[in-house]
Amino acid sequence: MNILAIETSCDETAFALGSGSGRDFRLLSNTVLSQIGIHEKFGGVVPNLSAREHLKNFKPLLKKTLKQAGVRLRDIDCLSVTSGPGLIPALLVGVSAAKALAYFLKKPLIGTHHIEGHIYGAWIKKNGKLRQDIKFPLIALVVSGGHTQLVFMKNHLDYEVIGETLDDACGEAFDKTARLLGLSYPGGPAIAALAEQVKARKPRFDLPRPMINSDNLDFSFSGLKTAVMYLVKKEKKEKKKISLNFKQELGFCFEQSVVDVLVKKTKKAAEQFKPRAFILAGGVAANKKLRKEIKNNLQEKNVLKCFPLLKYCGDNAAMQLPAAFQKIEKHGLDAYKNNWKKLGAKAEWRLKNAI
Ligand code: KG4
Ligand code: ZN
Repeated sequence: MNILAIETSCDETAFALGSGSGRDFRLLSNTVLSQIGIHEKFGGVVPNLSAREHLKNFKPLLKKTLKQAGVRLRDIDCLSVTSGPGLIPALLVGVSAAKALAYFLKKPLIGTHHIEGHIYGAWIKKNGKLRQDIKFPLIALVVSGGHTQLVFMKNHLDYEVIGETLDDACGEAFDKTARLLGLSYPGGPAIAALAEQVKARKPRFDLPRPMINSDNLDFSFSGLKTAVMYLVKKEKKEKKKISLNFKQELGFCFEQSVVDVLVKKTKKAAEQFKPRAFILAGGVAANKKLRKEIKNNLQEKNVLKCFPLLKYCGDNAAMQLPAAFQKIEKHGLDAYKNNWKKLGAKAEWRLKNAI
């Protein structure tokens, strides 16, 4: 069986083609066209511009994906599309096109949740096959531009959000802090690159670690960003401008604060829920310091630590495929055959309602 996956929830137009079944899966192609260059000058993603670019890129990228996979459009057996959460103008392009294709090809259409996609990206190996060593129950820490959630999974497709951010998402905090420091979008990689240049390990700024000792598994990042804002204002007032050294050290301290909070909450979740596996997912999962500190600190016995390949951390369509195959195994293809009529784009969509 060939499944074509489509992703347009934010600023990446992406397709992937996978074949096989839930166990015997192979990724045949994975294409991503990023719009960073377009949104960079606005310091963040502009939804309508994003939709316009998805529309422009849809057909050429689809053709490239099919060519790479060596599969013709008429040989597609099923489609899958990110139907939420995300930016509505952007989601509507992918969802509408997926519905039109499903109608034209007379094939079932699966709507996947963007966060479940991020989690399932951890299953894809370098050779395009799926890992067989990830056991349940598991905990996933999803850290992206739009979400920060700790998710407990007793089994495939069974999601319980056990902690989440009360304000800004983790990636959003990186992006906003980067803007305060005059760095380019997306801010996460820009701050990480600056922080890596700091040699002295004695932090110059004492930034807060919001909610690090709270008795729940929730997060808050907006106060941290505000603390950075006051330090930048003070420095600008005193020195007229902020130096590279100031940016490096503040970036370093900011990254460390975020990582400290994420690691502490992950450890707490592992102690409470006793998982057999842990998955780090989402765009911020590309952060080297976060990966390293989770590896070093999550020492609970028998917990397999899974970090997705870098190409499956940021937005892509391949990450939907393992989830789509699981859905077919659980509900059967027929459950999705009328979705070309029914599927909608959902800006807000709770993970537990993903089917
Ligand atoms: O998952 P993603 O590609 O898109 C959303 O679903 O939001 O995540 C994008 C986020 C951005 O906020 C970006 O700054 C952040 O991931 N990011 C990073 C790194 N690479 C990307 N944050 C910290 N360190 C990185 N190396
Ligand atoms: Zn994402």
